[in-house]
Amino acid sequence: MGDLITMDDLTNEEILQVLDNARSLLPVAKGDVYLPLLQGKVLGNLFFENSTRTRMSFETAMKRLGGEVLNLSSIGSSVAKGETLYDTMQMVDGYADIAVIRHPNQGAAQYSADAVEIPILNGGDGAGNHPTQTMLDLFTIREAHGSLEGLNVMMVGDLRYGRTTHSLSHALVRFGAKITLVSPESLRMPDEIVSDLISHGGEINETEEMSLSIDSADVIYMTRIQKERFPDEDEYIKVAGIYKLTEDNLSGAKAGMIVMHPLPRVNELDASVDSTKHARYFQQAFNGVPTRMALLCRSLGVKIPKKVNK
Ligand code: CP
Repeated sequence: MGDLITMDDLTNEEILQVLDNARSLLPVAKGDVYLPLLQGKVLGNLFFENSTRTRMSFETAMKRLGGEVLNLSSIGSSVAKGETLYDTMQMVDGYADIAVIRHPNQGAAQYSADAVEIPILNGGDGAGNHPTQTMLDLFTIREAHGSLEGLNVMMVGDLRYGRTTHSLSHALVRFGAKITLVSPESLRMPDEIVSDLISHGGEINETEEMSLSIDSADVIYMTRIQKERFPDEDEYIKVAGIYKLTEDNLSGAKAGMIVMHPLPRVNELDASVDSTKHARYFQQAFNGVPTRMALLCRSLGVKIPKKVNK
């Protein structure tokens, strides 16, 4: 019940409940209300790979709910001396009540969850999954469109290594999304993931061309081409900079269409989009705070009041 490793760990009803709870917690996430639901609890923030948003928003979420945070990274810990992930997790099991782990190896979050008693939240495992990102993405989409049902969603960029798109596409097809996957051939979404999407009823269209689907999209989800995941730098150079969304591309877009990006961006999302009504990526990053608050409470079995008053 407590772990969140992939989106399969949540039913659609549970997803919607977490999103409702996140909405109730918005005043707490903004710091307008202090609600120490997690007082006395300790979060282990275990980051074996770089992060700005996931790490900071988990820390903010825990602190705004009155909890404490222990931070661990490869640098500055005994991981640098060669301590194994298994042994590290045994320590965290004793020091913390819950942990989020980010790791470069796919499967590391499940491995960690199997090694300990405390709940484990997957903060991104290599090219695998990033379910807490998906929950904040779903929160952002539902706040913009009022529902998750039957949306036209474009995902653009590195769909091979992009764990955010792996988790999000899976969740969206469970709510009836039509998904256009835009990538160069070498960065296509893995066949097994596409098959999974289709088996869940997803209507999937794959293309290398970004501009054709923009006008019918409800959501454009841009992603960075992830240099650090390429085994060969020459292969990265061939596709780096292949897509760039600018304000001009959006002239025919639906009025309510939102542009999202898990961030960080490099050059695939031009700064000219920032001042358009479509830009939602900075709000999306903030939404990590209420959503992760709701997820922390869920995993720790803490009930969230329906209405949080100032
Ligand atoms: N979206 C996301 O995972 O960002 P970070 O890598 O900065 O945590």
